[in-house]
Amino acid sequence: MPASGRSRSHTAFEPSEPTLRAAHERAFRERFGVGAAPRVFFAPGRVNLMGAHLDYNGGPVMPMAIDRGTFVALAPRSDRVLRLASTLEPGAVELALDAPPPASGHWYDYPLGVVHALRGGGHAATCGADVLFGGNLAIGAGLSSSASITVATAFALDALWSLGLARRDHVQVALWAEREFVGVRCGIMDPHAVGLSRPGHLLWLDCRDETTEHLLLDTDAVSIAVADTGVRRELAHVAFNERVRECGEAFERLRRHVPEATCLRDVPLDVLREHEDELDATVARRARHVLEEVARTFTARDALRAGDVETFGAQMTAAHASLRELFEVSVPELDCLVDAAAACEGVLGSRLTGAGFGGCTVVLLRSGAREELESALGSAFERRFGRAPRVAVYRGDGGPRELLAGG
Ligand code: GLA
Repeated sequence: MPASGRSRSHTAFEPSEPTLRAAHERAFRERFGVGAAPRVFFAPGRVNLMGAHLDYNGGPVMPMAIDRGTFVALAPRSDRVLRLASTLEPGAVELALDAPPPASGHWYDYPLGVVHALRGGGHAATCGADVLFGGNLAIGAGLSSSASITVATAFALDALWSLGLARRDHVQVALWAEREFVGVRCGIMDPHAVGLSRPGHLLWLDCRDETTEHLLLDTDAVSIAVADTGVRRELAHVAFNERVRECGEAFERLRRHVPEATCLRDVPLDVLREHEDELDATVARRARHVLEEVARTFTARDALRAGDVETFGAQMTAAHASLRELFEVSVPELDCLVDAAAACEGVLGSRLTGAGFGGCTVVLLRSGAREELESALGSAFERRFGRAPRVAVYRGDGGPRELLAGG
């Protein structure tokens, strides 16, 4: 049923960071009572523009941190108890720092995994704390809410306990928490994007050797929009783990033809073409996506360096077709948004972002084309699915930080 009003998509207008900080501090006081003012920390979410499903294959990726993320308000306690609560999720937990419980399938497994990772790394927790999580990042929408909460927790506990960790340590702690404690075989892209990004830049991360480069995005000329389908698939992590397994199988079969290869990314496309019949048909499609996406991602980087945003955008749209046909992680709602964006003047490219199976598309558009985009996506999506997608334009953000009162 079409909604009334001029624009048929929901546009998210966000309050300023100081306003959000103040609201989160108030929520903390309501939850834990009045006492010393809490410290408040922030870690962003991310979109990925190029390099879909390449991180766990050792390929290059090009994410950007966004100005939406996780807020963590925290105050020390005089005992060794940690209380974790959230404004976004039901359920809270109280635990003994010296004997933290195992994973239980609740949202607080993510911060709890960080506590376990820090303990395992021999870092001393000097006091207990009351901690309230919240923020303005859609959960489970492919914007990396999980890396956002784990990196935010690592950063905040590092500050509370004066651990003196480096940014790359936060990334490693976050990765351990999600992989080993929560049990999702995620790649390395998300915590790197959340932990290492710089405002106004895309992050180039080569996942084979973890080298990074910050690539300037001309934000006067182009903007990045995200359109949320609203589709959340419960079993997305099962399908994700299945893709990881299939890519692993492709590598195991192809590596005998490329003895020096250390990951699927190292296998030349010609070798895949020559030996495709040795692979199960599904596994061959996955491998083809990976190897062609590696080539597209290098093309996109060269184009960005040369200021050629048209070529960059074309790589994004080609990536989506491959994610739909070969990697099979799209859904009709995502395809509808990508097709509608392609028909819209001022759009340079778009594709699903994150793992797929629902969530969001990311759109590269000429600055100034935002209204056309919103109305094009809104009407196409509503015609087909009877509801409006949420469309927002994001600025490239930096990594985690403390938000100071009055700052
Ligand atoms: C999820 C994973 C990432 C990455 C993307 C797909 O977001 O957490 O590590 O594999 O999917 O590019």
